[in-house]
Amino acid sequence: MEENHQHEQHEGNEELKQSSLIQHINDRSLKAVVIGLGYVGLPMAVEMAQAGYQVHGIDIDTSKVAKLNAGNSYVIGIEDDVVQSLMQAGLFTSSTDYAAVAHSNVIVICVPTPLTAEHQPDISYISAAVDGMTPYLQEGSLVILESTTYPGTTEERVKQPIEAANGWRAGEQFYVCYSPERVDPGSVHYGVKNTPKIIGGSTPACLNYGKQFYGSFLNEVVPVSSTTVAETAKLFENTFRSVNIALVNELTPACEQMGVNIWEVLNAAATKPFGYMPFYPGPGIGGHCIPIDPIYLSWAANRHGSELQFIQLADATNRQMPERVVKRAAELLEQKGVSVRGARVVLAGMAYKKDIDDLRESPALDVFRLLSVAGADVVFTDPMVPVFRKDDGTMLQSRPAVPELWTGADLVIITTDHSGFNYQDMADHAKLIFDTRNATAGCHGGNIVVLGQPMRRVKTGETYGES
Ligand SMILES: NC(=O)c1ccc[n+]([C@@H]2O[C@H](COP(=O)([O-])OP(=O)(O)OC[C@H]3O[C@@H](n4cnc5c(N)ncnc54)[C@H](O)[C@@H]3O)[C@@H](O)[C@H]2O)c1
Repeated sequence: MEENHQHEQHEGNEELKQSSLIQHINDRSLKAVVIGLGYVGLPMAVEMAQAGYQVHGIDIDTSKVAKLNAGNSYVIGIEDDVVQSLMQAGLFTSSTDYAAVAHSNVIVICVPTPLTAEHQPDISYISAAVDGMTPYLQEGSLVILESTTYPGTTEERVKQPIEAANGWRAGEQFYVCYSPERVDPGSVHYGVKNTPKIIGGSTPACLNYGKQFYGSFLNEVVPVSSTTVAETAKLFENTFRSVNIALVNELTPACEQMGVNIWEVLNAAATKPFGYMPFYPGPGIGGHCIPIDPIYLSWAANRHGSELQFIQLADATNRQMPERVVKRAAELLEQKGVSVRGARVVLAGMAYKKDIDDLRESPALDVFRLLSVAGADVVFTDPMVPVFRKDDGTMLQSRPAVPELWTGADLVIITTDHSGFNYQDMADHAKLIFDTRNATAGCHGGNIVVLGQPMRRVKTGETYGES
């Protein structure tokens, strides 16, 4: 009897707490903190603020906080005037101080999850964020981890440390969810609002609160049964991409040798209206997701005794690409009677992906490095990246993409297919172009070699060089 009574009382308290949370959501009196204001955290903070919540962003990078406080954005897709108007409306503030957690109901963690030097998950940023906020966390708060990470992180590195430090239980004194960010940088079609949001909770009460919160300002919320399912789903999505990109990267030289144009093959295959999704070859993979997330999944599987061989093979295949690009570039130069040592090479594009400014893990950096080691005189042009730091610490400025840049080069390598480049102008002036992205499709000129196009002459169509 006594036990039943306590159980009913607990459920009653729970309902009461949840209804006051829902009230905070409905009348927009809920206050949120976003920890980590990078490519993921800033757009999420802005989306919440635009929905009418008071949002405070916390970042340890003082220069980012200073920029935001001056009303300037540093993330593509977030305009300065959006930041300024949210600040004027009192809906967005930022600082380096975790004390703001004491005045908030929801804390969203968007800190980096890179690899260590040993190629293993580095979740030290998550632990630092949890340690930083825990002393300020108020009873009844909801903590959501958004950083991409291995299954088990939310329970082991977010929930348990808070429970241990504050003597609370998740689902009772506080709530914990995992909800991966799926932002597609540079995409004009999908942003925070219209990308379905997966969410898993530590308990049903946690999930319910998280669902209500995201559901109040995002188009679609996809609840799953646990935080680990949500963590694994995110890793699987990017592993799927890595493995499929590796498959086309592996097929590329085979097609070149077989005299088959891989781009034509892929475009033809892409007309299948079911059961197929196109992936394209390139100089390698980059960014904070595709090269890293599969390693998190493989590491997690390993610690439970499973080996994920596809991931290892895909990682190795994709990481070979910059080297293959440089080898082919050297061969193309030699065919023109130019040694790679001393050759003047322009890299068109340093960002890892079209129309964004992100250099993290960019394969163009490896292409640059390998060509420099081979003795080439390498410069770059990128409408999105004004400057980058070389391995020796010196800064290299982007060159203007003008005819003189193209004419002065022995070889132009298209490493990123930015929309801002004028490819026909490049083809009109460059002596030789090695296009690793098929960005010159539709351009005229006999000086263009496309990665994945036949290396030997075949009966149908024009090709470059002899194998
Ligand atoms: N960039 C993407 O396209 C993308 C897409 C989906 C998921 N993700 C994942 O989201 C997470 C964040 O990625 P990102 O691209 O936004 O990284 P980012 O480096 O752009 O931003 C992270 C921010 O966190 C700050 N930070 C680090 N430690 C902190 C701490 N202890 N307290 C407060 N701030 C701290 C950094 O200064 C930085 O500004 C990663 O787990 C990543 O894998 C990224």
